[in-house]
Amino acid sequence: MSDQIRRILVTSALPYANGPIHIGHLVEYIQTDIWVRFQKLRGHECYYLCADDAHGTPIMLRAEQDGVTPEQLIERIWREHHADFTDFLIEFDNYYSTHSPECRHYAELIYQRLNEAGHISRRVITQAFDPEKQMFLPDRFIKGECPRCGTPDQYGDSCENCGATYSPTDLKNPRSVLSGATPITKESLHFFFKLVDFETMLKDWIASGPIQPQMINKLNEWFTAGLQEWDISRDAPYWGFEIPDAPGKYFYVWLDAPIGYMASFQNFCDRAGLRFDDFWGPNSDAEVHHFIGKDIAYFHILFWPAELTGAGFRKPTAVHCHGFLTVDGQKMSKSRGTFIKARTYLNHLRPEYLRYYFATKLSDGVDDLDLNFEDFLQRVNSDLVGKLVNIASRSAGFITRRFGGRLADHLAEPALHAEFVAAADSIAQAYERREFGRAMREIMALADRANQYIDEKKPWTLAKQPGAEAEVQAVCSLGLNLFRVLTLYLKPVLPGLAAQVEQFLQIPPLRWSDVDHPLLGHAIAEFKPLMQRVEMAQIAAIIEESKEGAPSGEETPAPSGPLIDDPIGPVITIEDFAKVDLRVARIIKAEAVAGADKLLRLELDLGGETRQVFAGIKSAYPPEALQGRLTVLVANLAPRKMRFGVSEGMVLAAGGGDGIYLLGPDTGAEPGMRVK
Ligand code: 2FM
Ligand code: ZN
Repeated sequence: MSDQIRRILVTSALPYANGPIHIGHLVEYIQTDIWVRFQKLRGHECYYLCADDAHGTPIMLRAEQDGVTPEQLIERIWREHHADFTDFLIEFDNYYSTHSPECRHYAELIYQRLNEAGHISRRVITQAFDPEKQMFLPDRFIKGECPRCGTPDQYGDSCENCGATYSPTDLKNPRSVLSGATPITKESLHFFFKLVDFETMLKDWIASGPIQPQMINKLNEWFTAGLQEWDISRDAPYWGFEIPDAPGKYFYVWLDAPIGYMASFQNFCDRAGLRFDDFWGPNSDAEVHHFIGKDIAYFHILFWPAELTGAGFRKPTAVHCHGFLTVDGQKMSKSRGTFIKARTYLNHLRPEYLRYYFATKLSDGVDDLDLNFEDFLQRVNSDLVGKLVNIASRSAGFITRRFGGRLADHLAEPALHAEFVAAADSIAQAYERREFGRAMREIMALADRANQYIDEKKPWTLAKQPGAEAEVQAVCSLGLNLFRVLTLYLKPVLPGLAAQVEQFLQIPPLRWSDVDHPLLGHAIAEFKPLMQRVEMAQIAAIIEESKEGAPSGEETPAPSGPLIDDPIGPVITIEDFAKVDLRVARIIKAEAVAGADKLLRLELDLGGETRQVFAGIKSAYPPEALQGRLTVLVANLAPRKMRFGVSEGMVLAAGGGDGIYLLGPDTGAEPGMRVK
């Protein structure tokens, strides 16, 4: 492989800002993050950009339903998405929003350039209109009886019973999902992008190899069917950017969504001092890679390169499609508890288990991949705990106890170490080609080899033989050096574990080029357990918490949720209420609790008295953000003994399934005051 430093810009699809990240989404972000981390580890100049996809009718309606402005909704969801990604160790160089000045700028610029070059047409079309809501209805917002088989309650585009596809005007007894009114038809002027102008360019581009072979077949079907004009405008009321010089007309959300890649990069450039055109300009020699699900390929391999070309920008180097996630062979399902939110998973398990499991399943193809929980448990426990971490735990104790933490100053079997180093190119090639499953298999075969070496040498037996001291040190030092190489190979997948190992080995962050520099005569720190086994009970808890209507985890404050999904509880009397002693409290200390994923330990001042409370708010607040803050404490709750200590009360927080918001009094309140 060439040693030249590449400039690489990488994106994942932008998630919609109207719902939580779930494990289906995570396939893509984990896949992309592994690839990006690999490129950075190799020393390339690589940037990973993403953003929330913050426009469109569903977001507008969701905000209305929640009684908030769209801006408030997208701000809240942005924070939740960002926290979920961060906690899954997905490291964006910038995570932005399509509702941003940069996105407006590039959307207008691209539209204006396409328009000036004659690639935009305008014509009046007829569409379904809700006379009560006074808005045009997207197909998915109309339901009725299937025109072919008569099944009731079918969407305006297709029948779930007989598979017929049709237009909403064909439905029998149609009604608006929003108001229940019978839709009328109404005319309106729409703007279209003339995709067909780019047919030759697209065919040439595809021939240069930017997409996977399976997608080429799909693309040829589209070419055969004929490239249609693409409707890029929507009428008010719409949540998005108004089209310049076209009052009441807005860019369709899919027009500005991929432009969000540029917006996020521009925003990053302004901070990092990079030049936008070096990456997106027509003469850029940088690489641009988009990772997406196969369902949105049409937008990325037809519209997007055509728009870019028409507006004078470069085309992507590659568009990498992946398949969908199934759980135990089926689509994710709320009733089965397999529609698992990122946060629910994180409440119970370490992110790296899932990162590793997905890595073992990922290839460069577009086939769906299955998460089977028994397989997951078995794979993680056997590979990561049983093989990988075991190498270190079998070797480290001897080095610490008998040699003052010092590794031998030579390699016991240089050939074995060389064998591990020699695998670097093949593993790098697998990462580069997104054949992560192959990379994991090669790495685990080496882990087997390292364990086999330790089994053969039996340092625990040698240690009892007089005169074999040096050999014990040499064997264990080689064990740890092999472990170091494996950690480096797995660093794109297990960055948290790699950081723990770097700390244990007392070395600076590992880079790919360090592979053949073994640690000799080097002092290491004391070994601490690196990773626990996954227990079936943890998986069961995830599934239970994911079941529709299930209460959230017991250590999380009971969510009151937006009223819309969460009915008001039973009536209580004023006497019942008076039994609850609510007090203003100041958080004087807040800290994470070792071994608890969700909890913070709070020390509260009640105006003279200090209380300790464990609160399930870690996902929403870094501890340092809480210090000094006032909140409300249920002061007469019976103390509760928890695994980590006694909790003397409960702080109040608001929450829907997706967020947690600590309650606090208005300014002027003092610790100890009664809340009435
Ligand atoms: O399908 C989706 O979830 C879209 N929000 C993806 C947008 S990707 C890019 F084009 F912005
Ligand atoms: Zn039907």
